Amino acid sequence: MRIERQRYTERFGSVRINDVQKVLELDSGRKVDLPLKEAIAVSKVEEAVIKDFEEKMAIIIPIKNEKLKLFEGVISGVPHDCLIIVVSNSERKQVDRFRMERDTLSQFCHFTQRQALIIHQKDQILAEALAQADYADMLDKDGKVKDGKSEGMIIGMLMAALSQKKYIGFVDADNYFPGAVWEYIKSYAAGFSMAKSPYAMVRILWRYKPKMSGEVYFNKWGRVSETTNKCLNSLISIKSGFETDIVKTGNAGEHAMSMKLAQILPYASGYAVEPQELISIFEEFGGALPMTYQTAAKHGVEIFQIESRNPHFHEEKGLFHLQDMLLQGLASIYHSPLCEPQTKQRIIKELLAQEALKPGEKPVKPHINSAPSKEKIRNFAKFMADRLDSYSALEKIS
Ligand code: GDD
Ligand code: MG
Repeated sequence: MRIERQRYTERFGSVRINDVQKVLELDSGRKVDLPLKEAIAVSKVEEAVIKDFEEKMAIIIPIKNEKLKLFEGVISGVPHDCLIIVVSNSERKQVDRFRMERDTLSQFCHFTQRQALIIHQKDQILAEALAQADYADMLDKDGKVKDGKSEGMIIGMLMAALSQKKYIGFVDADNYFPGAVWEYIKSYAAGFSMAKSPYAMVRILWRYKPKMSGEVYFNKWGRVSETTNKCLNSLISIKSGFETDIVKTGNAGEHAMSMKLAQILPYASGYAVEPQELISIFEEFGGALPMTYQTAAKHGVEIFQIESRNPHFHEEKGLFHLQDMLLQGLASIYHSPLCEPQTKQRIIKELLAQEALKPGEKPVKPHINSAPSKEKIRNFAKFMADRLDSYSALEKIS
C-alpha cells in the first residue's frame, strides 16, 4: 500500500494528531528499495509488514439486526490473518437472527479455514464474567449487558485481550462493500506501521459517503461528522489559542487502536463512543489536567487519520437516528472538564439548529464505562478463559 507520509502534525500536550493521509495506491507491488525522492512524500508499506500487523489484530464487528447479506459481505472482506470477533445484539425471540449470524460465520470459517469468535451481548455467562471483572455498571436491572454499540465494542476488546491480540480494529456490520472493509483494515495496519508510540489510534476518513436520491451523489461530509469535528476543533482551538481544523474523524466508527491504548481509555455508552475516545485522550494527555498514565504520556499518544479510496456505503437509518447520534456525541464534548463556555454555547446552538435539542434543554451527560484495564482483563479471563472455545465459530459446525 502506498500512503501519503505525515505532512503535518498538531500537538496537544503529549497527543500527536496527524493530519489526514490519503491512500495513494491500494497495492504497491513487490518489495523494492524506494528512491529517496519518493520516500520524502510517500510511505510504501510492504505487504509483509501489513500481514505482520494483521496477525496481531482482532477485528471487532458489532452487529444488531443487520441484513445477513451485508454481514456476509463484511466478513469476507476481513483479511485472512485477522481474528474476527462478532459481538451481536440481534434479536433472538421471534426470529433467531443471532443464530443465523453464527451459522453464516461458522460456514465461512469452515470453508476459509480460519478462526472467529461470536458472542451475544445478552449472553448470561458474559454478564457473569463482566460482573467478576468489576463491570457491573455495564449490566441492566435484569443482570444482562445493556444495549449499545459501545458496550458491544468493550466486550469485543475483552475477548481480543483474552485472545492475546495486540491491536483491535472496529468495522460496522452494515457496510455494503467488502472491498471497503478490506481497505479499512489494510489502512489500520499501515497506520500502526507508521506509529512511533505503542499508544496509537487509526481513524478512517471516507473519501466519499455517497447518498442515493434518484441518482448517486458522492457526498464528502455528513452533517453529524461535520458538526462533531467543528466542536472538537473548537475545544482544541480555544485551549491552544490557535484556531485549528485538525480533527476530521470525530465520529469515525471505523477505527483501530493498539491494545495498550485501548486498555487505558474509558468508553462512553452508545454512539458517544467515538468522539469520547478523542475527548478522553485530550483530557488524559493534553496537559491541561493531571495525568494518570505516566508511561503512556512519556511515549505520547499518536492519532492517524487515513482517507480511504473506497467510498463508504452503509445502511441509512433515518433522521431521528442521526439526531440522536449527534446529540450523544456532542454531549460527550459538552460535559468534558476541558469544554469552556464558548464551545458549550456552540454545541447548544448546533443542537438547536439541527432540532436534536429543544430550547432550554441541555445535553445529558453520557454514561462512561471505565477502561478495560489489565486487572479487569485478568478477572474477565479467570472466568472466561476456559469457556472461550464455546464462542468459537468453528466449534459451532454441526
Ligand atoms: N453489538 C451491538 N450492540 N452492535 C450494535 C448495537 C448494539 O446495541 N447497536 C448498533 N450496533 C451495530 C450496528 O449493527 C452496526 O454494525 C454498527 O453497530 C453501527 O451502528 P449503526 O446504527 O449502523 O450506526 P451508524 O451507521 O448510524 O453510525 C456509524 O457510523 C458513525 C460515523 O458516521 C457508527 O459506527 C457510529 O458509531 C459512527 O459514529
Ligand atoms: Mg451504519
